[in-house]
Amino acid sequence: MHDESFPSDAELERAKATAIEAAGIAGQILLKYTRTGFQIEHKNAVNLVTDADKESEQAIIDTIRRAYPHHDILAEERGMESGGTSPYKWIIDPLDGTTNFAHGFPVYCVSIGLEYRRRVLLGVVLDPTRSELFVAVSGQGATLNGTRLQVSQSSALGAALLVTGFAYDIRVSTHNNLNYFSSFCLRARGVRRTGSAALDLCYVAAGRFDGFWEMKLHSWDVAAGTLMVTESGGRLSDFKGGAFSVYGDEIVASNGSIHGEMLEVLRDASLRKD
Ligand code: IPD
Ligand code: CA
Ligand code: CA
Repeated sequence: MHDESFPSDAELERAKATAIEAAGIAGQILLKYTRTGFQIEHKNAVNLVTDADKESEQAIIDTIRRAYPHHDILAEERGMESGGTSPYKWIIDPLDGTTNFAHGFPVYCVSIGLEYRRRVLLGVVLDPTRSELFVAVSGQGATLNGTRLQVSQSSALGAALLVTGFAYDIRVSTHNNLNYFSSFCLRARGVRRTGSAALDLCYVAAGRFDGFWEMKLHSWDVAAGTLMVTESGGRLSDFKGGAFSVYGDEIVASNGSIHGEMLEVLRDASLRKD
């Protein structure tokens, strides 16, 4: 008998095909704007939005709506659109890495996650500049262009390459990640800031980074990428080692082996008064 708490394989396959189709269309739109140019608007001093974000989002929503008229859709620029009483919710970042995109720095992606009864079951992230398609399906693993992903083996923070990011309120909030950033710089082999949280998570899944932490991210930044990490053998938590939620304020994602050391650094840095 079919388990009601989980969609059938056929339903998941259809959703995966829809997400991949939507991401492909959106990726082409982003690339088109890099050739034609785009208008930039300011959400605040450092938070930008472009024509590309908006057209990408519209195309993703249209593609999903055609296949699933009654699903809920949460998209960064548009907000929440309820489709009725469906247990499904799509969570979309039409352009993760807008600042990079606006500056012509080719590190950005399209991120599409799908929740079923508040659990993320599907994640699709497309980096159109490298033609890298990351796909994760709950219980089935994660792939990059069809090849199975596995987190890294590094077991010591001192030999780890980490990645993080900063929220758009960095100029006005003292809760701004700079204390954690300086602590990790002194403990890890290296710390990077790519400007795309969704790709950061995919890169942890792919073993390119050993760990990632950030605060104040939104569900659309992390829904797809976090499934990529767990389906590749990685671990997720909040800064204290508690359960991770895509609607929470803190994320630590790692290969699992260095997770404990990362939590120690976060704890020590939060206790430090400087
Ligand atoms: C941002 C990126 C960035 C992270 C920011 C996010 P956006 O998303 O993921 O890496 O540090 O906090 O808001 O605005 O480019 O979609
Ligand atoms: Ca984002
Ligand atoms: Ca975005």
